[in-house]
Amino acid sequence: MRKFFVTGGAGFIGSAFVRLLLDEFPSCEVTNFDALTYAGNPDNLEGLDSLRHYFIKGDICDGDAVFAALAENTDAIINFAAESHVDRSIASADEFLRTNILGTQVLLDVARARGVKRFLQVSTDEVMGSLPDDERAFFTEDSPFRPNSPYAASKAAAEHLVRAAHHTFGLDTVITRCGNNYGPRQFPEKFLPLLLANALNDEPIPVYGDGLNVRDWIYVDDHCRAILLALEKGRSGATYNIGARNERRNLEIAKSILDQLGKSHSLIKFVKDRPGHDRRYAIDPTLVETELGWRPRESWESGLRKMIKWYRSHTDWLERVRSGAYREYYARQYGAEVGAP
Ligand code: NAD
Ligand code: DAU
Repeated sequence: MRKFFVTGGAGFIGSAFVRLLLDEFPSCEVTNFDALTYAGNPDNLEGLDSLRHYFIKGDICDGDAVFAALAENTDAIINFAAESHVDRSIASADEFLRTNILGTQVLLDVARARGVKRFLQVSTDEVMGSLPDDERAFFTEDSPFRPNSPYAASKAAAEHLVRAAHHTFGLDTVITRCGNNYGPRQFPEKFLPLLLANALNDEPIPVYGDGLNVRDWIYVDDHCRAILLALEKGRSGATYNIGARNERRNLEIAKSILDQLGKSHSLIKFVKDRPGHDRRYAIDPTLVETELGWRPRESWESGLRKMIKWYRSHTDWLERVRSGAYREYYARQYGAEVGAP
């Protein structure tokens, strides 16, 4: 019986990964350890097989709690738990340093102490900074670390700790770095679900700066399949960049989603730019393709269709997460520029 310990499994990507594990390994056991911050949502775990999936509410910075929750002979820890939103890290970095850096070290220490066979760190392309607007420039596994936001810096620090645990203590580790995910259950502070939620409600869509920043988008289940391959077949100590060769400008995305929803482009509202806003991300996924045989299954069009369908049929989920604390965050982040959601 395979035993997996997933942290941050009540969030957007972690919950998709837990689903994938339960589908791929009919006799596995998954412990899902999550602090249920504003981004963690028990609704994301609806319908999971409670005989194989154990949810434990806990903080990855609490070594005793992690130690107690980790089953004997755990095959792998897959660390998704993080503070994940760049704008929040610009407003205040404290929680990012605590969870993303200290929390990762706690998990590495417990993994060693309990003899966990493999540790997979879910990282991000943002540790490599920003690329110029030049179609020949890509992030590779050898690109230097150049994190530009407190979020990116905290994820880079976590990568260094994972590398050190491998080098110094021989822990079997793998790091994956992915670009921008989209799909069901993404918290609407992030651009795509915010755009969708606002458009569905005929509310203004805040676009930072000139709207020409480029992100490299991947459907969440394709990302999860790549993580699973890296977990199963990745070389010990290796890093894999994951991307679907799908660069898009923010403004192009906003217009195309508005078109698909039959809404007017006049909903787009240019607002002041994000401080230090990275211009372009673009991933060269050659290594994960050639070494692990990974390919994305979704095209941008098919993935977007699935995402839009999910949000349209889960307006209750959306309204629940857009209430209370979200409204306060929204007012702080966008102020008078776009008004209340
Ligand atoms: P998310 O914000 O949706 O979910 C994060 C989860 O971690 C939440 O369930 C939250 O409750 C949990 N968490 C936060 N602090 C915790 C703590 N101290 N202890 C235990 N649990 C805690 O994030 P996401 O978008 O699903 O991202 C998951 C991971 O993937 C993150 O590590 C992120 O850096 C990385 N990543 C995200 C993207 C993306 O596009 N969203 C791309 C590349 C990498
Ligand atoms: O590249 C991977 C990263 O992608 C992950 O590591 C992060 O966890 C994830 O949040 C994401 O970071 P971004 O900063 O790229 O994502 P976000 O959705 O915040 O923004 C996407 C783009 O849209 C970016 O250029 C900023 C812009 N944007 C964002 C928001 C929230 C807007 O124009 N308006 C907005 O209101």
